[in-house]
Order: sequence, then C-alpha cells, then structure tokens
Amino acid sequence: NAISAELIESIRTIPNYPKEGVLFRDITTLLSNPRAFRRAVDALVQPWAGSKIEQVAGIEARGFILGGAVAHQLSAGFLPVRKKGKLPFKTLQQDYQLEYGMDTIEIHCDAVKQGEKVIVVDDLIATGGTAEAAVKLLRSAGADVVAACFIVDLPELQGRAKLEALDIPVRTLVEFP
Ligand code: PRP
Ligand code: HPA
Repeated sequence: NAISAELIESIRTIPNYPKEGVLFRDITTLLSNPRAFRRAVDALVQPWAGSKIEQVAGIEARGFILGGAVAHQLSAGFLPVRKKGKLPFKTLQQDYQLEYGMDTIEIHCDAVKQGEKVIVVDDLIATGGTAEAAVKLLRSAGADVVAACFIVDLPELQGRAKLEALDIPVRTLVEFP
C-alpha cells in the first residue's frame, strides 16, 4: 500500500555493512524524513490506541528512538532494554544468541509492576533473538507483554515465528526479501 511504499523508499540500503554480503537496512533516512517518521510511528501504534498500554519497552539502540515516540503517542511510560553493563540500578538479565556467540540484555529489576501491559518496540526484526530475549526478560519481571512492533521485517530470517511461539502478536510495517 501507499504507506509502506513511502516507508520503503525512505529506508536506505547499504551493501556489505557491517560485513561482506550483508544488505544493511538503515532507518536513519526514515527518521530524518518528517513525514515518514510520523507515519511510521502512527502506523506502529494504531492497533494499540485506546488499549491502555502502560509501558513501551524500547530495545537499544534504535528501539529507543522509536519507542520514545510510541510511548508519547500512547501516553505510556518508556522502559529501556539495554545491552549489559549500561543500567545503573539492580538488573535482571537474559542471554541471547548472536550470529557468532552470545550477548546479554538487561532491564532494571523494578522496571515493571506485576501484570503491567507492555509492548516491545524496535526498528527491525531479523532472527528475532533480541526481541525474544526482551519478551522473556519482561515476562520474568511480571509484565503482560501484549505485542511486539517493528518497522522492518526480514522474513527470510523467520524472527516473527520465534515471537509467535511465545504467543506474542507481531506487527511489522515493511518487509525486505
Ligand atoms: C539490530 C536491530 C535489532 C536487532 C535485530 O540491533 O536494531 O535490535 O539487531 O536482530 P535479531 O532479530 O537477529 O536479534 P543491533 O544488534 O545492531 O544493535 P544496535 O541497535 O545497538 O546497533
Ligand atoms: N539493518 C539494521 N539492523 C539489522 C539489520 C539490518 O539490515 N540486520 C540485522 N540487524
């Protein structure tokens, strides 16, 4: 449709970044385009308008930019999901698989109240490993994770299935084959 065409055109593709053979989908060009940025945020929140989302969990780093805008739009709080070692207070941790090796994400131990309705936001879902770890972490803290939303899906990597296996509805706006 027209909105996804506009969003697709606003995303820049960089060949061989961060390494040979990868086509990197760069959303900085979407963020700098006022119409595209607004449309992306409006489209991401559209299913949750009026549904009393209490916290938006944004995944470092690009999920912070979108998650802040989404939280404002929904009159929700913002909760940062960070790479390990960045949060100052006591944390809960979750390991996840990278292409080579493991990494760890964290949230503050008191970041959510029991049963709080949370949506997860990031710019892009690839393998889904990062978002899956975020969902597990938020659930371990007592959150009711209602959905996960991304601007970009790379369907070949089947990240959506990882979240759907956890009963998380997934919203994405554009796909790159
Ligand atoms: C990218 C992207 C997602 C994640 C998706 O972040 O913004 O967070 O990878 O990959 P996955 O679905 O295979 O887990 P990146 O790891 O590049 O971190 P950064 O935003 O801090 O640069
Ligand atoms: N763009 C941004 N982040 C990513 C990508 C990409 O193409 N692939 C995996 N993480």
